[in-house]
Amino acid sequence: MNDMGDSCYQLIKVRPLSSAVGAEISGVDLADCDDATFSEIHRAFLDHHVVFFRDQALSLESHKSFGRRFGTLNVHPQYVPLEGHPEILPIVKEADAEHNIGGVWHSDITFLERPALGSILYAIDVPAVGGDTLFANQELAFEGLSSGFQQLLNGLRAVHSDHTLSDRVEAEKRNMTRSTKLSEEAMCKPAVENPHPVVRTHPETGRKSLFVNRAFTVRFENMTVAESDPLLEFLYEQATRPEFTCRFHWEKGSVAIWDNRCVQHYALNDYHGQRRYMHRVTVNGDRPI
Ligand code: SIN
Repeated sequence: MNDMGDSCYQLIKVRPLSSAVGAEISGVDLADCDDATFSEIHRAFLDHHVVFFRDQALSLESHKSFGRRFGTLNVHPQYVPLEGHPEILPIVKEADAEHNIGGVWHSDITFLERPALGSILYAIDVPAVGGDTLFANQELAFEGLSSGFQQLLNGLRAVHSDHTLSDRVEAEKRNMTRSTKLSEEAMCKPAVENPHPVVRTHPETGRKSLFVNRAFTVRFENMTVAESDPLLEFLYEQATRPEFTCRFHWEKGSVAIWDNRCVQHYALNDYHGQRRYMHRVTVNGDRPI
């Protein structure tokens, strides 16, 4: 994160949430945001990696059109979208559901050849208590390693896969305990696998970050799962050390925009018996280098 205070912004107010990652932005209506304001939001997004807004009122169309300011929108390859709006993914946990979506540290859809640039999550119905989301800065995770270890990682690539779909019985079980459903079409397709560098360079800032995650990374390229597991475990621990994180508490109308190229996130499942309903728009990214 750059050492950028509020004074660097003319049109928005920016308040960091932790010294590692994340800032809350105020003074903005995302449904009606001019180019100059968007340019400051974009700068804050690159500086803080995840930015948060309160009291927003996003229609389906304004959510999508705000997302398009960052790039083209993704249609999620696994989950059933909102009817009539393929680019909107409902992130739902009904009061009687057991599991949530995103309850493991991850970066979105890294199994694709071109994983997501960013995700924009809008809270419509939130539990009275719980349901926070944690974010972890992957640049700090990389910078916190010794130079020798950094060098070793620089030469490695890891395979990412949507492997949870490869077992039909498991996939059906997931659908029974979660409210956001895997689509029938996705469950019939073979698992998608793509290798990515273990250390990626951010295409806009040039900064390096760790790029492996517990949800989708399965092994190092040209190595077995057994050979890869010990080092991957070490990297997952490093990636999510508490001092690299922030925690966001949702209210109705809150919005979070995170940079999947340099943060991981984790949705807490600690609000059993209560409903949580969000809409996510995901922006397509480029091939990690
Ligand atoms: C996700 O996009 O992984 C879910 C995040 C959340 O529900 O807080």
